[in-house]
Amino acid sequence: MEFTEALRGRRMVRSYRPDPVAEDVLGRVVRMVHRAPSGGFSQGHRLVVITAPEPRRRIAEISERPYGERGFPAWISKAPVHLALGVREASYHERYQQPDKLDADGAEIAWPVPYWWFDSGALLTLIQLAAADEGLATGFFGPDPQRLAELRATVGFPDDVALAGIVTLGYGAEEPDDRSSRTTRARLPLDELVTWVR
Ligand SMILES: Cc1cc2nc3c(=O)[nH]c(=O)nc-3n(C[C@H](O)[C@H](O)[C@H](O)COP(=O)(O)O)c2cc1C
Repeated sequence: MEFTEALRGRRMVRSYRPDPVAEDVLGRVVRMVHRAPSGGFSQGHRLVVITAPEPRRRIAEISERPYGERGFPAWISKAPVHLALGVREASYHERYQQPDKLDADGAEIAWPVPYWWFDSGALLTLIQLAAADEGLATGFFGPDPQRLAELRATVGFPDDVALAGIVTLGYGAEEPDDRSSRTTRARLPLDELVTWVR
């Protein structure tokens, strides 16, 4: 697939066909974790690839109801793959306590932004692009804070890995009534988002 086509294909899809995704295809998508940038090469990304029906059913049971209440058709329960996006913050502290990363006072840097969350977003985009390249559709949802413990228990990350959210993956189906914020809100003009200093 042309790169520009994959870029155009990167969007959040909330409708999937039931067809499973072959493991070699999934393997090519998730190995993006090796291509993803990370501050100081801290490599704090962690992924759990869930194709087994029971944990996916449980994830949907925990997470899907609010979407139904807002008129979305079922999508989390339909996606044949759930990919849990995890962040190990400790990897960053460990890395930035190494001599080449200490600040002028010999201390860990005052983090300008939490790089671990920043890097997780970058990985999400790479995963979406790699999936688009494989002809797959992807979505994403953040955990409901009220039900985070249940979701974490289902995904099975160790205690030192935070759950950034779940990527849904599969072959896209028709979205007859696309209720995404993308379609219900106006796109801001480019000039409001991009400033040029020439
Ligand atoms: C950090 C983040 C959190 C998001 N959380 C959700 C979510 O909980 N549920 C959902 O359906 N979409 C979620 N989205 C998808 C956004 O709604 C979507 O990216 C946005 O409307 C733009 O649409 P597009 O990505 O298809 O271009 C999230 C996206 C990001 C980057």
